Amino acid sequence: MRALVFDSFSGPLEVREVPAPEPRPGGVIVQVAASGICRSDWHAWQGHDPDVVLPHVPGHELAGTVAALGEGVRRWAVGDRVTTPFVNACGSCPQCAAGDQQVCVRQTQPGFTHWGSLAELVALDAADVNLVAVPEELDLATAAALGCRYATAFRAVVHVARVRAGEWVAVHGCGGVGLSAVQIAAAAGARVIAVDVAPGALELARALGAEHTLDGAPDVPAAISELTGGGAHVSLDALGAAQTCENSINSLRPRGRHVQVGLLPPQQGRPEVPMERVIGRELQVLGSHGMPAHAYPEMLGLIAAGRLDPRPLITRRLALDDAGAALADVGRQPGIAVVTSF
Ligand SMILES: NC(=O)c1ccc[n+]([C@@H]2O[C@H](COP(=O)([O-])OP(=O)(O)OC[C@H]3O[C@@H](n4cnc5c(N)ncnc54)[C@H](O)[C@@H]3O)[C@@H](O)[C@H]2O)c1
Ligand SMILES: [Zn+2]
Ligand SMILES: [Zn+2]
Repeated sequence: MRALVFDSFSGPLEVREVPAPEPRPGGVIVQVAASGICRSDWHAWQGHDPDVVLPHVPGHELAGTVAALGEGVRRWAVGDRVTTPFVNACGSCPQCAAGDQQVCVRQTQPGFTHWGSLAELVALDAADVNLVAVPEELDLATAAALGCRYATAFRAVVHVARVRAGEWVAVHGCGGVGLSAVQIAAAAGARVIAVDVAPGALELARALGAEHTLDGAPDVPAAISELTGGGAHVSLDALGAAQTCENSINSLRPRGRHVQVGLLPPQQGRPEVPMERVIGRELQVLGSHGMPAHAYPEMLGLIAAGRLDPRPLITRRLALDDAGAALADVGRQPGIAVVTSF
């Protein structure tokens, strides 16, 4: 099969023929129809993820059709249109038993623990636990975004931050995750402030429902405090940088909730979390990681009802041959880039 491969961290990204994967027991092979390019793929390429073994095929934000079944798969058939949370949970550890598949201790992740979806075929584990049927009315390029960033933002806003109508929500970094969070928070009735350094990202954020945009002004927390009369109720670091994490926590009013979604690999420097402020203001500092498959029906229902619409987030459809350049450049152009021809 054709795949995007790297042989060294930060080294060349090239498309070449590699051996096709075989389904593992309980798993499937999916013929990839669409694979988004997420900043987490960039982190994998940079060597920030200890799970990645070289040579490596990145890609974890996908949709496609089931091409082969491993032993024991009951719920799926060849030809089914599917997506999957990038966390492929085991289905049987204590976290899975509690419904918290997004933090399964025996999880695998395509594009990290094994070869990913920037390829014609990808192996997915524990298919009966993890696969999600893509409704007929949703095209597979849009459905790919549900495999990582749109679903991650949904869980962060709705299930972790529990955003309520009328609350102020600040989103720091408006790429794939951040723009999704802007739309989902606005749909929940929140008043959204979008922060980014790229004018194109802020323009899209406004179109997706942000009431205010800030271009990373010298003092972001002060600007947010002024706009909101004392700070945001909820603030998300949707980039993953010491500066955006610190800005997010410092943007909160007393009893506010910070949600960390952007990855903060230690190689990039640790943020300074102002714990005195966390105590004095009773702030909540929360992490959010993907979203389990069983939580998808609520999100898909809102999409079917027209309350949420991930389609405008997809701004570029690419060929696999262009995926390497797009991965190296992730975040430089507004919206989500999806590879749709392999
Ligand atoms: N927690 C999870 O489950 C999960 C899931 C998906 C992605 N992620 C992580 O979320 C982060 C975002 O991913 P993405 O694909 O949306 O990223 P992206 O590259 O699409 O977007 C990043 C955005 O941040 C903006 N930015 C850069 N510097 C900034 C600054 N100083 N202040 C404000 N904005 C700034 C860029 O202009 C860009 O719009 C990454 O760290 C990714 O690895 C985490
Ligand atoms: Zn991702
Ligand atoms: Zn598990």
